[in-house]
Amino acid sequence: MTESLAKGKGVVAIDGPAGCGKSTVAQMLARRLGYIYVDSGAMYRAVAYRASQAGLDAERDAQEIGNLAGELTFEFQQVGDEQHLFGDGEDVEEVIRSVEVGNLSSPVSAIPAVREHLVAAQRQMAAPGGVIMEGRDIGTVVLPDADLKVFLTATAGERARRRWRQLQEQGIIEDYEQVLRDQLERDKRDSSRAVAPLRPAEDARELVTDELTVQQVVDVLESWLQDALARGGTDAQGT
Ligand code: DC
Repeated sequence: MTESLAKGKGVVAIDGPAGCGKSTVAQMLARRLGYIYVDSGAMYRAVAYRASQAGLDAERDAQEIGNLAGELTFEFQQVGDEQHLFGDGEDVEEVIRSVEVGNLSSPVSAIPAVREHLVAAQRQMAAPGGVIMEGRDIGTVVLPDADLKVFLTATAGERARRRWRQLQEQGIIEDYEQVLRDQLERDKRDSSRAVAPLRPAEDARELVTDELTVQQVVDVLESWLQDALARGGTDAQGT
């Protein structure tokens, strides 16, 4: 790692639609730089999981789900080679990755009170610096002053293929067409909702990942961060 990356203790915001590869990339970059990795989507999934356990419905019980999001404590911990999310001390990493929780997390994440609580928790996590946070609204809402803001994209077909492969590896058998339909449905909901819709920050740098390996994407982001820290943050880049 170069000296300025270590010294700069930079803050990186990575946003993009489901399946664009941002989790893998953010995790690898964090490991390479010795930064903390925050998967904000996991936190929305944890709230959705808790809500479903409590028999709550995103539309009918928005207020209760908002309260639940405020009471839940979040902690990311390293477990072997992976980072797991603990909600109220319970390792929820596996249960929050199911297709059902994924689908449920979309309407749950559209509840304004849920977002308020989670955004506050995310800002606290980023405060010490040396953080890579990924999600949908990190550059626009959570960390608008991040040193580097990145918007990663990939075509819908490519994203669905990646997701389908990932599910297969986890032993979850889903029809590809169904994965694509779910993906398009979630994209639509995430980018058309009233609160914190998915969109690039004005000063975000965009990267389409279809033709790139994970390694190549990580290399690009590392050099962008190096640039940003050398110039004193995203605003100073004039991008
Ligand atoms: O990235 P993911 O699929 O694990 O995210 C789960 C859900 O949470 C998804 O519907 C988008 C939503 N989300 C959000 O609204 N804001 C974020 N910062 C991260 C995720």
